[in-house]
Formats: sequence, structure tokens, C-alpha cells
Amino acid sequence: MSWLPLLLFLLSTATQESVNAAESNILTLHRRIEHSNASRLERLRTAIHGDGLRQRMIAGVIGRRRKANEVDVPLPSLESTIEMPVWSGAYTGTGQYFVRVRLGTPAQPFLLVPDTGSDLTWVTCRYRGTTDLMSAVKDGRKNGQRSRRRRAKRIFEADLSRSFHPISCSSMSCQTELPFALTTCPKATSPCTYDYEYAQGSSAQGFFANESATVEFPNRRRMKLKGLVVGCTSSAVGSSFVSSDGVLALGHGPNTFVSRATARFGQRFSYCLVDHLSPRNATGYLTFGPNPFLPPHPSAPLILDPFLQPFYYVAVAGISVAGEVLRIPPSVWNYRRGGGVIVDSGSTLTVLADPAYGLVVNALSHRLAEVPRVQVDPFDYCYNWSSPKAAATCVPSFEVHFVGGARLSPPVKSYLIDVADGVKCLGFTSTPWPGVSIIGNIMQQEHIWEFDLENQRLGFHPSNCATGTLFP
Ligand SMILES: *[C@@H]1O[C@H](CO)[C@@H](O)[C@H](O)[C@H]1NC(C)=O
Ligand SMILES: *[C@@H]1O[C@H](CO)[C@@H](O)[C@H](O)[C@H]1NC(C)=O
Ligand SMILES: *[C@@H]1O[C@H](CO)[C@@H](O)[C@H](O)[C@H]1NC(C)=O
Ligand SMILES: *[C@@H]1O[C@H](CO)[C@@H](O)[C@H](O)[C@H]1NC(C)=O
Repeated sequence: MSWLPLLLFLLSTATQESVNAAESNILTLHRRIEHSNASRLERLRTAIHGDGLRQRMIAGVIGRRRKANEVDVPLPSLESTIEMPVWSGAYTGTGQYFVRVRLGTPAQPFLLVPDTGSDLTWVTCRYRGTTDLMSAVKDGRKNGQRSRRRRAKRIFEADLSRSFHPISCSSMSCQTELPFALTTCPKATSPCTYDYEYAQGSSAQGFFANESATVEFPNRRRMKLKGLVVGCTSSAVGSSFVSSDGVLALGHGPNTFVSRATARFGQRFSYCLVDHLSPRNATGYLTFGPNPFLPPHPSAPLILDPFLQPFYYVAVAGISVAGEVLRIPPSVWNYRRGGGVIVDSGSTLTVLADPAYGLVVNALSHRLAEVPRVQVDPFDYCYNWSSPKAAATCVPSFEVHFVGGARLSPPVKSYLIDVADGVKCLGFTSTPWPGVSIIGNIMQQEHIWEFDLENQRLGFHPSNCATGTLFP
């Protein structure tokens, strides 16, 4: 869920307009649907939205922060990796995935959106002292918009957790590095509040706390992961959060879940997303530590510039369709020149900056020209796949070429996606140039993605996400 306006902080003035335009495109799609249901098309229509993070100037290259007594003791191999189950949210009518996370002491389970484009882990939450807290949040909000509480399945009862400790507004982390922290600080001991703004219409308000999560090893033994920064959200606005209980921040930054978990389990994490149309009983996973299911695999350079946090930029060299490399201007892939590509588990469709979008959809649609088109708002290219012409058509391959030579060759269903019975659409949206391209979660489905932060590599390998005997 990359909140494109974030880039206002990052990019030149020339880029700002296009970022705003990109956001409004996305929001146009977003606003079409008031109440989504689980139909594929509705789901995809509601899927494209952004979320937000505030750029901080903290150069936080994350070191190994193991406690002294943990450094010398090698972990038993079965306990060097933790694993969390991940589902497609299709059954709830969203284009997102859900991960099960247990927070607090004793632990309470939640379904969070695993989001590589976020730097705040938060959960819908209730806490006794929140009355004056929330008036502080409201005072601090720029627009006097009323926030509406969205129905969520579960609420974190913070009062019941022994490990829940609000972070004070006078603390250094509140004042300098916590994302979207408000400056309101009536008393030194008042909690540090946030108004975390996602794309227009989506936001989360609450206060930051220090909390623990319970995580599980493949052998089902559990441990506490302490010292997490978790947002206690008392008010969340936006359809993004109707089905989930919050967000698991997998972004790159000093206060994300990734920073804590990698400090404990080593500088890598991986996930495998099942087919986005999978039923609820099909699970993929999120792991921290070595992934035993990842065979030798290609990898691409991961760009972990602190200035780009919390996003994971990946070095793309080009795109080919039907084996032919398209003549896309190299600046589209260059984050220093207003382009660049983010790998985002919280975005559904793949977003291409205009010069790439035009060439990619032209190349693909040219080879699908025999198949009758159908008009399916908001997609540009949709086909009547029940037409006999479709059966006779060979769908061209689509490949992403990374710097260094690795290639992602997704299955056809990841770029020519089923939006309704007998209707398939090219699964791309455009963003004006200059603008950042996004590899969305449908393009990532049925692959293991390994974020190796130590070596700055993004590894990938096709997989059905089965965990075999190790993670039964
Ligand atoms: C889903 O949407 C369709 C068309 O908008 C509608 O006919 C149907 O009743 C909806 N289903 C549910 C469960 O809301
Ligand atoms: C959270 O609590 C732990 C102790 O459990 C402490 O060491 C750590 O500094 C705290 N972190 C923050 C951000 O307050
Ligand atoms: C999921 O449930 C369906 C029946 O609803 C069953 O046919 C299928 O085999 C199950 N899949 C898995 C992976 O358990
Ligand atoms: C798709 O093609 C089939 C067979 O040619 C036809 O019966 C159907 O009406 C078409 N559907 C649309 C939405 O055009």
C-alpha cells in the first residue's frame, strides 16, 4: 500500500504533480465502489489504493541488535526461523492478503495486512485512557473531518495486555522518528499520538505503544518478540481496513516489524503469496530467518537507500513481451530520475509509469487482437474469454528483466487476470511520468520472495507456497 504522496518528500517539484495525478487515478478507482462484495471485479476495483508513510530523515541502517547473551549461542536450526500463515483476502472481497499475528500478553490474535509499503504496525484497539488521547488526536488533525470507526472483526483490548506500554510524547522517538506522530504533547507522560494518513479517505488515528508479539517456530514452539512499536488505533477510516484488523509493517525502516524481527532472526525475510483467487483454506506464509523452501534462485538488486524508506526499490532493467525487449526509456527504472520500481505486497495491481505502460499494453494487446474486447471499467484492456477466438489465441509471455540478468516470468494469470467469469483484463494500471512503478501482489503471487537486507538482494522463485513437512 504505497502512499504515493509520500514521494512529495522525496522527489523534485516537477514530480509532485504527477504523483498527485497518480493518486487521483487510484482514488478514482477507489471511489467507484461504495460497498464491495466478493465478486472478483468488485474486489479488483476496490483494490487499488494507497497507504501512507512519512519520510523521515533518519539514516537507520539496521544492525544486528541481538542481546549480548544471544550472540554466542547458535539457535537450533528449527528455531532459526519464525513463520506466520498468510491468506488471500479474496473471501472478504479485498485485493489484499492477510497475515495472522498474535499481539500482547496474553496474546490476542489478529488478521493484519502484510504491507512492504508501510512503516507502522497498527491494530484496531481499545484502551481505557483513550478519551482525552483521542481529543488530542483530533486537535492535532489538520482538517476537522470526522473520523468514522469502521467495523472490524477484532479489537485489541490493550488494558488486558501486561506487555502494552504507551510511548510518551516527550520521548525522542516520538519527536524525531515515529511515522506521522503528532506534535500535540499536553503532558510529558501523555502518549505519542499519530494520524497516519493513507490515500485520501483512508487514515488511522491512535497512539504508539511498545508491545510484544508471540511468534511461532516451525516446530510450533512459541516465543515473545519484544520491543515492537505498535499503533493502538482507535479510529480508522477507509474501505481498506473493513476486513482486516490493521497492518503489519514490513517496510524498511527503524520502527517496523521487519526491523525488530530481523534484529532477532537475521537480516532476511520472505513470503509466499498464494493465488489471489484462492479460498480461505489455502495458506502461504511469511518467514523471518532462513527460508528452508527456497531452492537456489535468481535475485535482483534491492535498493535500501535510507532516503527511500520504507519502500523496497528493486533495480529493473527492462520488460519483454513475447521474448522481445520493449524500448522503454531507461529513466523509467531509475529512482534518481523520477522513476524506479517498488515491490509492494499491499498494492494489488502492477502500476507502470506511462512510457512503460503504453508500450507494455500495446505489445500485449497487439498479440491478443483477435479476441473480442469488452468494456470493463476501470480496466483499459479486457477480453471476452468465452469467445472461441480466445481458445485459439496464444497469450504472449511477459517478463521483467532485473539489473544483473535475473528475470521474473510470471504465469499468464498474473498479468492477464480473471476479473469475472469469461472476462480477462490486462492487470496493469498507469501512472503519469515521472512516476514510480509498483510490482503489485497479483504479479507476486505463487512465488517466494526473499528480502535479503544484508546482501541487498531480492530473491524470487516460483512456488505454490506449500510448506511440506517442516511447516505442517
Ligand atoms: C454483490 O454485487 C452484486 C452486483 O453488484 C449484487 O447483485 C450481489 O447481491 C452482491 N452480493 C452480496 C453478497 O452483497
Ligand atoms: C520497549 O520496551 C523495551 C523493554 O521491554 C525497551 O528495552 C525498549 O527500549 C522499548 N522501546 C521503545 C521504543 O520504547
Ligand atoms: C479447501 O476447501 C475446499 C472445499 O471447500 C477443498 O476442496 C480443498 O481441497 C481445500 N484446499 C486445501 C488446500 O485444503
Ligand atoms: C462473449 O462471447 C460469447 C461467445 O461468442 C458470447 O455469447 C457472449 O455474449 C460474449 N460476452 C460479452 C460480454 O460480450
